[in-house]
Amino acid sequence: MDDQSFRDATECLVKARRICVFTGAGISAESGIPTFRDDAGLWREYPPERFAHWRGLVSEAWRNPSLVARFILAVLEPIAHARPNAAHQAIAQLEQNKIVTVVTQNIDHLHQEAGSVRVREVHGSLFKIIDKQRKIIRKLTRAELVQMVTELQAMLQHQVSIVKLLRSFRNILGLSWRGVHRPSIVLFNDAMAEPDWSQAHEDAETCDLMIVIGTSAQVFPACTLPIQAKLRRVPMIEINPGPAEFSGLWLQGKAAEVLPRLVQAAA
Ligand code: OAD
Repeated sequence: MDDQSFRDATECLVKARRICVFTGAGISAESGIPTFRDDAGLWREYPPERFAHWRGLVSEAWRNPSLVARFILAVLEPIAHARPNAAHQAIAQLEQNKIVTVVTQNIDHLHQEAGSVRVREVHGSLFKIIDKQRKIIRKLTRAELVQMVTELQAMLQHQVSIVKLLRSFRNILGLSWRGVHRPSIVLFNDAMAEPDWSQAHEDAETCDLMIVIGTSAQVFPACTLPIQAKLRRVPMIEINPGPAEFSGLWLQGKAAEVLPRLVQAAA
């Protein structure tokens, strides 16, 4: 990382009063959760055209339930065992002196577990179960997720049928006397999670520093938030091993290494 960029970024952070932190999968990489588009990313093995929307998932499940079971296991298992890393913690620490809002595309709940209070989950959350009207009917615990992962692993030892698959997800997905329920995650073609998405626009509109961490900014409309701030000429810091997407001050490196140093330097 270039020293001058680090000094400039530290100065921006010292001056800032209202910070919007926009995060993507990269911030959770060091918590053991794979990203989507890197070499070992989820979409490499499971192409998003088939697995990133409900219709694709349902048709794959009829055709090949064990493949869908493996995909769901690949999503759930790392999240079930993840803990916040030093980057999540550094952001939570920033809140002690600044007004900080975290706008995340992640569904892993790690920002809140690290202690961040104002978190907008614009792609929803794996830990909120909603009904057809998008009302939260229940929260899922990480322990329940671990239990589901164990069941899925056991199921994959034998032939998987669609009935077995649905039964193993009954806690988070399916039909009951209450109607349809499912995790509040946003897949492709879904509307963004509300009220978080509207609030995130306001955060991008009112912040005086935007910090973009661990995102390839490939997914619309989430990627428009940093642009919104940039159009107002708000300073921007980007933390990513590379490449940077928004030509802000690029601190090249892993979030869990760079962020604690930056927060410390600005303290
Ligand atoms: P991507 O997988 O597209 O991008 C991950 C980014 O994290 C890349 O820019 C990497 O360089 C960076 N990265 C990797 N390791 C890192 C580390 N240790 N520290 C910091 N950065 C690191 O993930 P997202 O941009 O989050 O949406 O993807 C956005 C959306 O695409 C997801 O929310 C998901 C996906 O499809 C939906 O499914 C709706």
